[in-house]
Amino acid sequence: MKRRSFLGLIAGSAVTAYLNVTRAATGGDEAGTVFRHGVASGDPLGDRVILWTRVSGQSKSRVRVRWQVAKDPDFREVVARGRVRTGPERDYTVKVDADGLEPGIAYFYRFRAGGETSTTGRTKTLPDGRLDAARFAVVSCSNHPYGYFHVYRDIAEDEEIDAVIHLGDYIYEYGMGGYATEYAEVLGRIPEPPVEVVTLADYRQRYAQYKADPDSQAMRARMPLIAVWDDHEITNDAWRDGAQNHQDDEGSYAGRVAAATQAYFEWMPIRGEARSAESRIFRSFRYGDLLSLIMLDTRLYGRDAQPDANGESDPERIGRRLNDASRRMLGAEQEAWFERELEQSSAVWQVIGQQVMVSPVRTPDLEPIVDMEADAGLPRDMRKRLVEVSKSNPPMLLDTWNGYPHARQDFLAAIARHSNNAVVVTGDLHTSMAGDLIPEGGDAPVAVEMITTSVTSPGFDQYLPQQRPGAIRDATLDFNATLRYMETSRRGWLKLNVTRDDVIGEWHLVDGVQAPNYTKSVDRRLRVATGEVGKGLQDA
Ligand SMILES: [Fe+2]
Repeated sequence: MKRRSFLGLIAGSAVTAYLNVTRAATGGDEAGTVFRHGVASGDPLGDRVILWTRVSGQSKSRVRVRWQVAKDPDFREVVARGRVRTGPERDYTVKVDADGLEPGIAYFYRFRAGGETSTTGRTKTLPDGRLDAARFAVVSCSNHPYGYFHVYRDIAEDEEIDAVIHLGDYIYEYGMGGYATEYAEVLGRIPEPPVEVVTLADYRQRYAQYKADPDSQAMRARMPLIAVWDDHEITNDAWRDGAQNHQDDEGSYAGRVAAATQAYFEWMPIRGEARSAESRIFRSFRYGDLLSLIMLDTRLYGRDAQPDANGESDPERIGRRLNDASRRMLGAEQEAWFERELEQSSAVWQVIGQQVMVSPVRTPDLEPIVDMEADAGLPRDMRKRLVEVSKSNPPMLLDTWNGYPHARQDFLAAIARHSNNAVVVTGDLHTSMAGDLIPEGGDAPVAVEMITTSVTSPGFDQYLPQQRPGAIRDATLDFNATLRYMETSRRGWLKLNVTRDDVIGEWHLVDGVQAPNYTKSVDRRLRVATGEVGKGLQDA
C-alpha cells in the first residue's frame, strides 16, 4: 500500500489505507449450518435467472445440491428443478441458470444439501412486450467494517423493487487498520481475513464474511441482483494494467485480477464463469418495451491508467495525459458494443449502469471550507495540500470520467446519436448527487446522471472536516452549474422509478450506520420527462 496522489484524495474510493498490517494465516470453514451464506438470484432474462447459494461445512470433493423453482412460496407448483455438483474448485458455491421460465413472473426458489433446506428466495424474470413501470434499487459501496447494512435491509422491505442494480464495491480489500476500519472492533465487524486480500483464498474468505451478513441476505432473498464490479472487488483505483493499491510485493497484477474475478464469479449471482483477467461483465437487460438497462465495465476491461497513476503529481504531466485523446475508459471493443446496444434499443428509455462519475465536476476553492484544526478526517498535511491544489479548481477525482475527458466526450456523443431518453446511474462517490450531462461545447443535456451514495462507506463529511455543515455541498453546487443535487452526510440508496412518462430518482437515506437501529427518509426526488432530456432534471 502506498499513499496516493493528493489530486485524487478528494472523495470516493480514493482514500489511502493508513496502516500496514502484517499478513496472518487465515482459517477455513467453521462448523454450522449448510446454507449460512443465504441465497441469491441475478441476471434475470425473460425465460431464465441465475440462482445462487453456497454449502458450508463440507470437505468432500463432490457435494450434490438439489434446487427447485416454484410459482408459490410453499412449492406446491414446482416449475423447474435439478441437481448440480459443487466442490472445493469453486469454493462450494452453487450457481444454476434456471431456464424454461415465463417472462415477468415472480418465482420462489430453494436448495437442498447435506440434509438441510435453504431459506426460500424470491426472484423475478424480465417482462416481455408492453410495460408501464419498472422500479430499481441502485446501490454501491458496502464497506462491511464501517457499519451495518441498514440500506440493504431498507431495500429488502420495499415491496415495489424489480431488481437491485449493484454498481460495485460490493466488498473492500483492506485489512484491519486499513481504510474505514475504525469502527470495526466496536461493531464486531473486523475484516476476515484481517489483512488486505490478495490471493484467491483471501478474496473467497472476504466474500464469505460479507455474504454472512443478515441484512445482505434479506435483500438478496427478496429480489434479483444485476451487479458489476468496481475497483474494490480487486483493489483501490484499479485499471486494466495496474492499481493504486497494488504493489510489486503482492505478486503480479494479472494474477491478482484473476483471483479477484474468479472469486467474484463464484460468489456473485452473475451469469457465466471467470475465464481470464479479461472477463466481460458488460451486458444488457431488456424490460419489455419500457427500458434497456445497459451495464458497463468502466474499471477493468478497457480502462487506461488514471492521469495521476503511479503517484504522478506534476500538474503539467497530468495535464498532458488529460489532453491525450487516445486514453480510453471503456476500450474500443466495449465502446463499439455500447454503441450497438444504444442503436438497437427500441425501448422508451435507455438506462446506463456504470461505476464512476460522468459529470464534469471541478473542485471549488477549499480554503473557506475545510477545517484545518479539527482532529477528525484526513491528516492535516494532506488537508493542507488539498486546499492548495483546490485553488486552481482541478477536475474532481481523476479516477472518474473527469480523468478521461476525451473518452467522456465520445461516450456522450454515442448517447446523443442513438438515444433521446438516456439516464446514467452511477456509484463509487459515497455521495448522493445528480446533474445534467452536456457535451463540451454543447448547450443542452443529452442525458442526465443520478449518483447513489454508499451503503456504508465514509463520504466527504467523514474525512474532510468542514468549517460549517454543508459547506462542501454548497460550494460544489455553486461552482458547477450542471449539478442539481448533492448530499454528503448520509448513506443510502437510489430508487429509480421508470414509467412511459418519466424517470424519477428518489434518494432514500438513513440517519446512520454505526447504531443498530436507524430511521430513513427520502431526501430528494428529481424527474426527467420522456422526450425532454434536453430540459434536464426537474424537481419532482
Ligand atoms: Fe466505494
